[in-house]
Amino acid sequence: MRPKFVAGNWKMYTSASSAKALATTVAMSLKGDKRVMVAVCPPFPWLSVVAEALEGTSVLLGGQNCHFEKEGAYTGEVSPIMLREIGCQYVIIGHSERRHGLGETDEFLNKKAKAALEAGLKVIFCVGELLSEREANRTEKVLETQLTHGLAGLTAAQMQSVVLAYEPVWAIGTGKVATPEQAQAAHAFIRGKLGEQFDAGTAAHVQIQYGGSVKPDNAAGLMSLPDVDGALVGGASLKADQFLAIVNAAIG
Ligand code: 13P
Repeated sequence: MRPKFVAGNWKMYTSASSAKALATTVAMSLKGDKRVMVAVCPPFPWLSVVAEALEGTSVLLGGQNCHFEKEGAYTGEVSPIMLREIGCQYVIIGHSERRHGLGETDEFLNKKAKAALEAGLKVIFCVGELLSEREANRTEKVLETQLTHGLAGLTAAQMQSVVLAYEPVWAIGTGKVATPEQAQAAHAFIRGKLGEQFDAGTAAHVQIQYGGSVKPDNAAGLMSLPDVDGALVGGASLKADQFLAIVNAAIG
């Protein structure tokens, strides 16, 4: 049985005080309930204030990105070791806003994933197709390429620390959620590919989150699908009541 995992990607939102308040409300409301894994991924500057708010609670902390080097002359970058030191257990790698907005390639993301795992972080590795790619019936090809190159060289043992997030780019921040059929088909495809790239045990074990316009009213439908193991939530993770409703939907 794969435990459900709901993560909030706060993107470049919140202030120091609203981040602290949001993290505190989420953690206090969950009261250590471990039926669903829950994480929040605040902007870098608020990681320490949120880490403090989450101390002793069941809510996990994640970064939204990291560099592939341990340290160095990389102005503006943050290393996976720094994320570990500040209390992160997870890091998001390969979000479409970085792939498409900032031109991050599969090879570049592969280096980041390896570095994050070496630093002892778990990785939420995002994949997903553009609308034009879906319309051209290229969804599976795109996912296959992102998985093959993005996870190249990882061992099955390392895959125990990797969570996949299927985020169709056309569903992110648009209010256009994938239908249950589209989501299940993509997740099953991803799991099948993990079986080919690694082994059947790895494919059965890896959690695959869905992301893209997840809201309280569609969360239960998506997370009841056989291959959907949780959600990576953007906009709705910024409102404690909405995020908590999505976590509750994961409990079923
Ligand atoms: P929305 O939930 O705002 O569509 O964002 C999804 C996302 O990008 C999570 O990483």
